[in-house]
Parts: sequence; C-alpha cells; structure tokens
Amino acid sequence: MTTETPLLFQPLTLRAISLPNRVVLSPLCMYSARDGVANDWHFAHLTSFARGGTGLVFTEATAVRPEGRITHGCCGLWTDAQAEAYAPIAKFISKAGAVPAVQLAHAGRKASVAEPWTGGKPLGPQSAQTPWQTVGPSALPVGDDWPTPHPLSTSEIADLVDAFAASARRSLIAGFKVAEIHAAHGYLLHSFLSPLTNQRNDAYGGDRAGRMRFLLEVAEAVRAVWPQELPLFCRISAIDGPQEGWSIEDSVALAGELGARGVDVVDCSSGGIAGPPAYRADYSGKPLQRAPRGPGFQVPFAERLRQETGVKTMAVGVITDPHQAEEILAQGRADLIGIGRELMYNPFWALHAAEALGADPDCALWEKQYGWAMVRRSEIAASGGKR
Ligand SMILES: Cc1cc2nc3c(=O)[nH]c(=O)nc-3n(C[C@H](O)[C@H](O)[C@H](O)COP(=O)(O)O)c2cc1C
Repeated sequence: MTTETPLLFQPLTLRAISLPNRVVLSPLCMYSARDGVANDWHFAHLTSFARGGTGLVFTEATAVRPEGRITHGCCGLWTDAQAEAYAPIAKFISKAGAVPAVQLAHAGRKASVAEPWTGGKPLGPQSAQTPWQTVGPSALPVGDDWPTPHPLSTSEIADLVDAFAASARRSLIAGFKVAEIHAAHGYLLHSFLSPLTNQRNDAYGGDRAGRMRFLLEVAEAVRAVWPQELPLFCRISAIDGPQEGWSIEDSVALAGELGARGVDVVDCSSGGIAGPPAYRADYSGKPLQRAPRGPGFQVPFAERLRQETGVKTMAVGVITDPHQAEEILAQGRADLIGIGRELMYNPFWALHAAEALGADPDCALWEKQYGWAMVRRSEIAASGGKR
C-alpha cells in the first residue's frame, strides 16, 4: 500500500474492524428465502461479491420479526435457525477477505406485499399468498389500495426495540462483523421519523425529538448488545422529498444523535416515504416530489452530514464508475461507496475498478485460482493475442 494507492482501495478501520477497501455492496432484497431462512441461493449471491473484491458485503434487509418482512420471501433473524443459515455465508465472506455485514429491518406499513416480479402489490384476500396485518406510527395507509396499518402502542414499540436487539445478538452468532439499522425508504423506523406518516401525539410523535425517539431507542438497544469493537451503521433517507417532510436539516440533527449513541457510519439514501411510484402522494393527494435522480444524486447528503456532524458517511445511488467513486472520496464527500445495481450487473466490479484505477497491476487482489490466469490474460491482450 503506497500513498499513490487510490483511496477506493485504501483500507478503512472502523473500531477493531479493518475494511480492505471502500467498496460496499449496498443491501439488496432478493425475496428468495423461505420462512426467513437464507439458503444456497443467498450463499451464491452474497459470496460472489466478496469473491469480486467488494470490501464490505451487506445482506438484504433482514427482518427482526415475521411481520417486518416486505414479502414472504424476505430473510429474517427472529429465530436461531435463521442465524445458523446465515453463518456459512458470513464465514465464506470473511474467508474471501471481505467483511460480512447485516442490515436489520422492519418494513412497517410497507410490509405484506408480493415479490416485485409478480407486481409488488399489497397482498389481499384474493392473493395467492396470505397477507398479514401491517403496523406503523399512525393509521395511514401507503395509498388507496393499501391496508391501513395498526398504530403501534408504546408497549408494542418497546417489544420491537427488544426485537432489534435480539436480532443483533443473533447477527453476532451468525458471524457478521458490521450491523446496520435500516431507518430509510419509508419502512417502520423512517415512518416514525417523517411528519408525513407520523401523526402521533404521544412521546413517539409530535416534534422532531419525539419522532426520533423510536430510532434512537433502537440504536441504543442494538449498541448495548453489539460488541464495542464492532461497527454499527444506520441507513437513513436523508430527505423525504425536496420540499416536504423529513429534511436534510432533520438528518443533520439525527446524525449527531446517532453518533452520540455509538453509530459509526450514517448510510445516506433518500425517499421512499410515499411508497412505490404509483402512490407517491401526500395525504391530501398532492403529488410528493422526488429528489432529481442522476449519477451520485445522493452524494450531497453524505457530504453535508459528514461535514456538519463529523460522523462517517456512506454515499450510495447511481455510483457506477471507478473514477466517479474515487473522486467522491478524494473530495472528502463520503468515507464509503455503496453500490447496488452496478454490482448486480457485475459482481467483479471492485476488481475491475482496481484495474481501471491502476491499483492492481499484477492481479494480486484476485483470488489465486483466478489471479494467475488473469495475469496471463493481460499478457495475451498486451501482445495482441500472440502469446
Ligand atoms: C433489487 C434491489 C433491492 C434493494 N433492497 C434494499 C434493501 O434490502 N435495503 C436497503 O436499504 N436498500 C435496498 N435497495 C436500495 C439499494 O441498497 C441502493 O441504495 C439503491 O439501489 C441505489 O444504489 P444503486 O444506484 O447503486 O443501485 C435495493 C435496491 C434494489 C435495486
């Protein structure tokens, strides 16, 4: 490692964990589990990113309770058997030199839907799969043809705080080294943060402090069981929309509170409060604007939180090019680069990025089984196919 090593391929130490580089597989729901239990498909899927040189590999949103799944096919960590199923995956990721990470989630009022490839609609009496009662801060459905969520009582909130902590304990048994609390995309914890979906007037609603209470209690409970030497992340939707709802100023305040509770990295996403595109409206029916999309469109959120709070941040969202990723780090706009769809397209993205940035001229980052042949491949290419 020299000072010329691109930042993307410099290690990052978080507590006692050293990430080999700054490339992160962003959490990706795959809707392919049965009873919340990961299987061979998840093994092949998740380990491919570790084999492809990704430094930190996140599981999909993993539900802390059965009702916290988005679909019947989502993974969970509400039983020990689910932790046992994740264990070989976490072990292989570690053996491949990457760091295994889990995202802990509850889908709240956006739960109980069909898989996206069968339409993604809320399950109902006519569906092939059985629907379940969704929960939220208030009795506000996502949209017209969505079920009304059951507003959580304070004792039900306390139970869910415990559920997050219990799933964090199971994550440890499974062998994960990083845990992330999912508080983005309109799911349960985000729906408590946003004034668009939280209309409570008890201690978990009202002003910003009240709306943040549930998430901060979860952060404290998870931190209390997650070992001090292991990093804790929190994913937030930095804004609901450009003009309404949860704002970037709210996120700055939240990031400070999360940092004070031992959250090491804030993972900066956005949006999702109003559900899928067809439902994007507030409760007066007014369309909810989305932040304009494009390459790196959420980077400004990661940058602002990093600069104003000193907390480390992960940037995510249409980051596809190695030079783009390197520039984000070089300009001090984020500490980590989250990649979703581009890694699905090319699980070997990190190794190709290392080549593009000149960080791996000898294919040393490749697994030995492939590396020697990749050197030969380069030699053959350099000789115009003559060797
Ligand atoms: C198929 C798919 C599944 C996703 N599942 C999750 C998830 O489980 N948890 C989460 O926080 N975000 C999820 N996301 C959002 C991604 O983690 C990521 O933030 C988003 O795709 C933007 O990054 P990209 O432009 O690199 O894909 C998902 C996105 C896709 C495309």
